[in-house]
Amino acid sequence: MTTNSKVSDMGDPKPADHGQTFYRTNRLNGYDLVTVKAANYLLWRCPPGRLVELYNKHVTDRHLDVGPGSGYYLDHCTFPSPKPQITLIDLNPDPLTFVQQRIARYNPSTVRADLLDELPDIPNTPFDSIALNYVLHCLPHTSGGRGEVFARIKPLLSPDGTLFGSTVVTGGAPATPLSQTFNALYQRMGAFHNQLDSVDSLHEALDHHFSSHILEIRGSVVLFSARDPR
Ligand SMILES: C[S@@+](CC[C@H](N)C(=O)[O-])C[C@H]1O[C@@H](n2cnc3c(N)ncnc32)[C@H](O)[C@@H]1O
Repeated sequence: MTTNSKVSDMGDPKPADHGQTFYRTNRLNGYDLVTVKAANYLLWRCPPGRLVELYNKHVTDRHLDVGPGSGYYLDHCTFPSPKPQITLIDLNPDPLTFVQQRIARYNPSTVRADLLDELPDIPNTPFDSIALNYVLHCLPHTSGGRGEVFARIKPLLSPDGTLFGSTVVTGGAPATPLSQTFNALYQRMGAFHNQLDSVDSLHEALDHHFSSHILEIRGSVVLFSARDPR
């Protein structure tokens, strides 16, 4: 791993992209409008305001954001204090740079890492809150399912901390013809890998790794929060 004072990197010059090269700076510029707003209202039917509320409920001053994208929620949520300690993890370098600049007022630390691989040392561990928002549906399925991701993240959570986030599922939540069409398109493009994701499978994976969790279905999205890692 190569590091400087605020940025660390996996050191792998060509990490697996898992179909996630989509997140380049030019696309991140339009991400709030196209993905955070249009897709959430028209396709997934979970308004971004509900996700800002989810952040506001769980975010703390020792926060890890996994897969921050454009950083919309970090920019719009309210932290308990004006000086939270924020760490960002992403597979792609552009979201890290983009969000680091967008929320420069918080001076976040960044780590380039692949959630589907062993994580490097993450600075500022443990965290009182960890967000995993709209990331699971992007991740290819592995033999361990989504539980493998929770197993990798939970050691980073403090004993009283909360893991929270949301994901677009294809089972157990209402879909519309439009949402099904776009979901299938995103799967063909390799941007979404949520063929096996359902409310039940998410419940099972969270139950396996946390003593308590809450799920909320909003449109085709499941919002979750989990505490007390097992
Ligand atoms: C759909 S965006 C979500 C952005 C943001 N959290 C939001 O809710 O708007 C998915 C994010 O996860 C990152 N990502 C995708 N696959 C990843 C992986 N295997 N490891 C780490 N980050 C990944 C992408 O680069 C991107 O920043």
